[in-house]
Amino acid sequence: MLLEIAALTKEYKRNKLPFYAVKDANLSIDTGDFVSIIGRSGSGKTTLLSMAAGLLKPTSGAVTLEGSNIFSLSDEEMSFLRNTKIAYIPQGMSLLPNLTVLDNVRLPFYLSKQEGDAAEKALSLLEQVGIVRLAGDYPKQLSGGEQRRVSIARALINDPALLIADEPTGDLDTETTAEIMQLFGLIAQNGTAILLVTHEPDMVSYGNRVYVMNAGTLTEKK
Ligand SMILES: Nc1ncnc2c1ncn2[C@@H]1O[C@H](COP(=O)(O)OP(=O)(O)OP(=O)(O)O)[C@@H](O)[C@H]1O
Ligand SMILES: [Mg+2]
Repeated sequence: MLLEIAALTKEYKRNKLPFYAVKDANLSIDTGDFVSIIGRSGSGKTTLLSMAAGLLKPTSGAVTLEGSNIFSLSDEEMSFLRNTKIAYIPQGMSLLPNLTVLDNVRLPFYLSKQEGDAAEKALSLLEQVGIVRLAGDYPKQLSGGEQRRVSIARALINDPALLIADEPTGDLDTETTAEIMQLFGLIAQNGTAILLVTHEPDMVSYGNRVYVMNAGTLTEKK
């Protein structure tokens, strides 16, 4: 198993009263899986993904990646993991405004301290997501959909085993959303597992498994 989420729980306080943003969530993801999570605003989707990506520490429960509990890793091991094995596309825009499209895509490569400059690979990923002509532009010169494609190319630069994306089509029109979902389908076929949150129930037909988050509780949709 690539990723296992077991009894994952996150408790927060509001007006001094504790509540569960995520309660006892269980989910397993294997290579090539394409898992979608739907659910209302505030139901705990981002909280769950942030814990799955190792960015947020759970109150209890475990996230196991290829057999090791990610929350027992050292800071150094954790950042290596985040730069190489797990790619995370956060909700909203996440490109660096002062870097070109090409440099945004290459950034995780540099952060993982590998040899070489990855320009060719970055360009081929930009080609794959259909925007290689924009390589020299800056994020503010791009449309929302084009910026999303840059974040997807960037997420793939280090050949992650798992790509986690939080509403990657949140603010896009229906046609662009369908194109981006097809792109995720291709990525899954090429062996990178996908875990994504989506608002649009129509879009879940692209995934091989669908889960619903409801007030912190995750259940599989049959
Ligand atoms: N750092 C925090 N401290 C306290 N409460 C939080 C914190 N982060 C999130 N919450 C609360 O936890 C619940 C789940 O939030 P989360 O961001 O996971 O929802 P979501 O399903 O991603 O919503 P959306 O679809 O709007 O992005 C919400 O009630 C939110 O207000
Ligand atoms: Mg969210």
